[in-house]
Amino acid sequence: MKTYYVWPLGCQTNKSDGERVATVLERLGYHRVHDESNANVIAVIACAIRQSAVDRIYGKFRQWEQRQQAGDLTTILTGCVLPHDKQKLTPKFDLVFDIEDLPRLPLLLAQTTVEETVNLRDKMEYFDIEPLHNSAFRAWVPIAKGCDKFCTYCAVPYTRGRERSRPSTDIITEVKKYIERGYKDIHLLGQNVNSYGLDKPGQELRFAELLTAVAQLEGDFWIRFHAPHPRDFTADVIAAIANYPKLCKQINLPAQSGNNQLLRRMNRPYTREKYLALIDAIKAGIPNVSLSTDIIVGFCGETDEQFQDSKTLMEYVKYDMAFIAQYSVRPGTVAARRFTDDVPVAEKKQREQTLTAVLKRTFQENQLPRLGQTHRVLVEKYSKDHWLGRNEHQVTIEFQAPADAPLVGTFQNIKLNSVEPFRFVGIIQ
Ligand code: 5AD
Ligand code: SF4
Repeated sequence: MKTYYVWPLGCQTNKSDGERVATVLERLGYHRVHDESNANVIAVIACAIRQSAVDRIYGKFRQWEQRQQAGDLTTILTGCVLPHDKQKLTPKFDLVFDIEDLPRLPLLLAQTTVEETVNLRDKMEYFDIEPLHNSAFRAWVPIAKGCDKFCTYCAVPYTRGRERSRPSTDIITEVKKYIERGYKDIHLLGQNVNSYGLDKPGQELRFAELLTAVAQLEGDFWIRFHAPHPRDFTADVIAAIANYPKLCKQINLPAQSGNNQLLRRMNRPYTREKYLALIDAIKAGIPNVSLSTDIIVGFCGETDEQFQDSKTLMEYVKYDMAFIAQYSVRPGTVAARRFTDDVPVAEKKQREQTLTAVLKRTFQENQLPRLGQTHRVLVEKYSKDHWLGRNEHQVTIEFQAPADAPLVGTFQNIKLNSVEPFRFVGIIQ
């Protein structure tokens, strides 16, 4: 039996791409295994956002080398890879391909391993390949690819190319299909979801219209999206989220920094004041909204004073979640060429810890008034000795029920009894 293992690093887009790679490998007759040491094909969906993700791939080579030489293993690489890393990684892999070429993977593999090819059209759009979902209740739906924003620290514009919106008819058809199959948690994906349609003015729906279209579909499900950019976050998006119960009242709005000089150096086209005005508008327009953010600490030249602006921004907004990252130089980006990565690692670490402490505090403050409420929870799994699910705000909720109860992928009402850092403990009603 021929076997494969898909290893997606990084974000949801890579997980989604990995599910499409799995489909193609299954069509080629490979069977999925959950332990990479049993796989004949390992497909790496790489992430270029931080050096640590790239290093994890380098860390595997020793393990794979012997098996590759013995002819037991074919390794393939796709996803986000910077030109700088592509040069170094290519000789170590049997096959490196651009994810857009996924429909051609059978042919590419045939050239390297003399496997049979399957009947996939060469020119097919890779989004048309149906993903093999890892979950029975959560589905990723890409709505756009690429990014044109060129934040100076970021690898994505160099690995994923220009922004292109997927036809809304395809998106709506795909969402509908998943809802009919019982999927409950639909995530619309793109590097800048709220620029959706702007690359095809007059010919495509705008993001708020797309949200409205999927929120009006029949069925019992939730819709979320990742990730918006503060620049194109328009009032009609806020109104849509407020008006349609199926659109989760949960928004990740990356701030990246709370300091105007840093924002300019990052090429983020807004000020702290504009960002906070948008936050105020979201809070006013969407009662009970849950906010999260992405923040980078220790970007080139960030002084302690400038860092304090990120801290006070977080204290003002009171996020429920924050993805706090220490700045990591990405070769080939504007920041790598023009600025110096001059904040010491120990200082970056300290700043990350400081912001994590703020987040813990604001999470707790936000959740305490919710104790005693009953929340609708989408149940995910039984783990060790309890069940885990998430509410509309994507906060984890732990509760007790028999381990063999058929709860995975169902909505349950859970009364919230206590709160710990980043999770509630509750009782099923
Ligand atoms: N270093 C650290 N964090 C980064 N991100 C993007 N590029 C870098 C980098 N070079 C973070 C940003 C972005 C998230 C996906 O990753 O916060 O929003
Ligand atoms: Fe990277 Fe900025 Fe594009 Fe987000 S908006 S993917 S941080 S360049």
